[in-house]
Amino acid sequence: MSRVFVSADMASVALGADRVAQAFADAGCHVVRTGSRGLFAIEPLVEVETNEGRIGYGPVGPEDVGAVLDGSSKARLGIVDDLPFFVTQQRFTFSRCGVIDPLDLADYAAHGGWQGLDAARAMTPQAVVDAVKASGLRGRGGAGFPTGIKWQTVFDAAGPTKYIVCNADEGDSGTFADRMLMEGDPFCLIEGMAIAGHAVGAAHGYVYIRSEYPYAVRTMQAAIALCSPRLAPFTIEVRVGAGAYVCGEETALLDSIEGKRGQVRAKPPLPALQGLFGRPTVINNVLSLAAVPFILAKGAEAYGAVGFGRSRGTIPVQLAGNVRNGGLYEIGFGLTLGELVHDIGGGTASGRPVRAVQVGGPLGAYIPPSQFDLPFDYEAFAAAGALIGHAGITVFDDTADMARMARFAMEFCAAESCGKCTPCRIGSTRGIEVMDRIIAARDEAAAMPAPTGGYLDAALYSRSPQRIDHGAAAQTELLRDLCDTMKFGSLCALGGFTPYPVLSALDHFPEDFGAVAPSPQAAE
Ligand SMILES: Cc1cc2nc3c(=O)[nH]c(=O)nc-3n(C[C@H](O)[C@H](O)[C@H](O)COP(=O)(O)O)c2cc1C
Ligand code: SF4
Repeated sequence: MSRVFVSADMASVALGADRVAQAFADAGCHVVRTGSRGLFAIEPLVEVETNEGRIGYGPVGPEDVGAVLDGSSKARLGIVDDLPFFVTQQRFTFSRCGVIDPLDLADYAAHGGWQGLDAARAMTPQAVVDAVKASGLRGRGGAGFPTGIKWQTVFDAAGPTKYIVCNADEGDSGTFADRMLMEGDPFCLIEGMAIAGHAVGAAHGYVYIRSEYPYAVRTMQAAIALCSPRLAPFTIEVRVGAGAYVCGEETALLDSIEGKRGQVRAKPPLPALQGLFGRPTVINNVLSLAAVPFILAKGAEAYGAVGFGRSRGTIPVQLAGNVRNGGLYEIGFGLTLGELVHDIGGGTASGRPVRAVQVGGPLGAYIPPSQFDLPFDYEAFAAAGALIGHAGITVFDDTADMARMARFAMEFCAAESCGKCTPCRIGSTRGIEVMDRIIAARDEAAAMPAPTGGYLDAALYSRSPQRIDHGAAAQTELLRDLCDTMKFGSLCALGGFTPYPVLSALDHFPEDFGAVAPSPQAAE
């Protein structure tokens, strides 16, 4: 009987993987449902076990079963592990994703599972914290804060009750790594949380998963039930998110778990000292926690040996939007943006030139191709006025209207604002109004007929392109002012970072805004 592997990842299922798996089962194959390998252009991917390794076919439909099984299918890709998209990666965190049955404990153990937890439990808690510090791991949720230092603060805080909270809200546009990991290798995240619990002295953990991830919720719940004896005395509970982007912000998330409306808390106190139910709490992103088993199993040095500058280890980059090879690519920090977009991503799916990429979700800057030599590194991005965030790269081709994208950033902020502070709550709504005036003036100017020198020109004078341009310039000045207030006056990064996409669009693509006021830097 042929043994075949078909992904049950939500994205693969959306592309028809369930029907394909059923067709192979109907043909008498032993079908193993895995997570996704992460290259969505070849999903549904079917891997057939052979003596040489797993031969991949993709994309495959239910009608292709016969041709796949007799080897004549035109969708044959060769040995999956040898495909350039996979062979060039450094999969520390995602090594098992797409390979194993996510809910098979024996499969997990056979592929290196639990080695990190076993190693950690043989060490003192302080030694585990030290190992995480030495690895150089930084939070993958957005801010890039050193994970070991956060753990040290919780370790040092008075007990006895402390919590581990995993942030699986994954609200950033163009990101899906947390979901893929939870669906494809849930025990890895669970192991990371148990290591964190041992390190800081916490006996209970929560995984806060966004409501739009029903498969991840189901898989995590099943995985926790399966491995609870192995975790004891550590226990984990799944909480389903409340459907707001701001609930991914760590303090709003804590409020949400506590059953309140998710609203940002003022800091201090830090959640590490007074977090969930007022107790010392580690809050980490899925990818931060899932990196920890590797660090404990293989050593901090092995993890930290890879990377660029102060950005150590690997980063699971997610390529999305208008890109040919959309998917997840895990690699050491340091590849340039151009390498990621063109060499790995294959450029745009439309075949048109890339106009911009947005890195770091809806609060990330728009970066033009002229800056594609930027290395993927927290410090290099910060110096360029950009952020890595959760490492999502959304690609836009040359048909993108960057003024409309700037308006969208304001609209997103207005819709998702928790309402606690004025610069964000009111500023974003005023921002939409200003953007509407800029776009209307631009469109009106573009629609004006060219002057003919005839008598009608005088009649049109009152709405001449020149007058409209002056109006637009005043509005862009107002927009910069407003962004300044939001950046420096907001309580959290939702209001504070919305200016990044707005101002980067304005600075790099002024032609989309009509006539604009020069940026303060340009005027100096
Ligand atoms: C508006 C907003 C949304 C956020 N959404 C997420 C999210 O979906 N997932 C996440 O891990 N971090 C998110 N963060 C960052 C968290 O507040 C926090 O920094 C992170 O969970 C800490 O984990 P880390 O140190 O492992 O990155 C968000 C922050 C803000 C301001
Ligand atoms: S910036 Fe202010 S209003 Fe906006 S989400 Fe953060 S705390 Fe809430």
